[in-house]
Amino acid sequence: MTNARIIIVVFTASLFVSRASAQSETLADIQRIETRMNQLATYGANTPGVMKRVAFSDGDIQARKYITGLMQAAGLTVTTDAAGNIFGRKKGKDNSLPYVAFGSHVDAVPNGGIYDGDLGVIGAIECIDILNQNHIETVHPLEVIMFTDEEEGLIGSRAMTGHLPADELNNKMNCDKTLRQGINDVGGNADELDKAKIERGSIAAFIELHIEQGDNLETGNTNIGIVEGIVGMKPYTITINGKANHAGTTPMKLRKDALLTAAKLIIAINEAALSMDGRQVATVGQIFVTPGGANVIPGKAIMSLDLRDLSAGKMDLLFNIIKHKADSVAQLNGTVITFIPKEVKEPVKTDKEIQLMIAKAAEELNLTAKYLPSGALHDTQDMAKLAPAAMIFVPSKNGISHSPDEYTSPEDMKNGINVLYKTILEADQTFK
Ligand code: GLV
Ligand code: MN
Ligand code: MN
Repeated sequence: MTNARIIIVVFTASLFVSRASAQSETLADIQRIETRMNQLATYGANTPGVMKRVAFSDGDIQARKYITGLMQAAGLTVTTDAAGNIFGRKKGKDNSLPYVAFGSHVDAVPNGGIYDGDLGVIGAIECIDILNQNHIETVHPLEVIMFTDEEEGLIGSRAMTGHLPADELNNKMNCDKTLRQGINDVGGNADELDKAKIERGSIAAFIELHIEQGDNLETGNTNIGIVEGIVGMKPYTITINGKANHAGTTPMKLRKDALLTAAKLIIAINEAALSMDGRQVATVGQIFVTPGGANVIPGKAIMSLDLRDLSAGKMDLLFNIIKHKADSVAQLNGTVITFIPKEVKEPVKTDKEIQLMIAKAAEELNLTAKYLPSGALHDTQDMAKLAPAAMIFVPSKNGISHSPDEYTSPEDMKNGINVLYKTILEADQTFK
């Protein structure tokens, strides 16, 4: 995403009401943030900076305990729902109002980094600590949310919107447990997922702070990203059926090699995505081949396909091009290609009013900001079904994420948390 639309954020002071206490306000404590981020990074880490904290693993369970402790130390009332999502509640002046919520996740991809998700959770707790230090009581109750298993399909937030079907509970997860076992192991109750559902109207606003995971902010020398939308995703399982046969005796021209078809199809998919103008992306990230013998022609290949864009129509168009190319690739090798669609994530636009609050907060803090889309999925996508929702991004070094090389500087983390803090206060004043 290198050609992000840059919008110079301009304000008219009269548009916004500033708080009288702004001068003497305590803001994020850079040392506390670093200490907590580093401590959190130890859970599930085999080597420093390398995260093996897939959801429901021992590391994830230890990280959840650590976060629960931080929430309690900040005076929050902590509960866990049936999906294992953790909530930390701080009372407001009027507790009959819906709550202003903010948070993220602490599970990671295999061999991932130590900022994706973590910053949004540590940052949310930091905001509570700052509120406490400033003796500010909000009008709305506040809720810090730590979502269950963001990385393997937004599990926790989908349960909150009632979009986690029971048949997914039998899926084998990265930690080697079924989803059912995983949810139960972190204090949820997989048999009562319905109880995790939250009605629209219970949440006044939702805000997630996250690392950008791309290079728009860094290359633009910009402090804060105001996320205008989150891409949708159309995932598929592709099955290629050929014919297993002897690697020594079957002439080249008579082979129905499923892996050869897969290889040609991967190239065709890449070419299809590159052939269109825009930001659409197409990825094959997994491939399994059977029977898997060095001296056997592969009879079957199963692979993943992940299509993403901010426009649902664009994803449909891209899929049609891929499908068309797949038909000719299969014919060349006498194999059969089947695309099995999986759960689609619709693209989501974030809330315009909260976007302006984020822009205003950045301006007040003398930080530069620009609007940009999110190419990664986030729990905010589901939260947008329940409430006005938005996201704040901070720079990722070299645009790297889902990798041990993921890095965001303490200064950038602090900036993002301060913007989150001010946005929470503005949302508290604005939303009913
Ligand atoms: C999650 O990080 C995703 O974008 O798949
Ligand atoms: Mn994330
Ligand atoms: Mn991620």
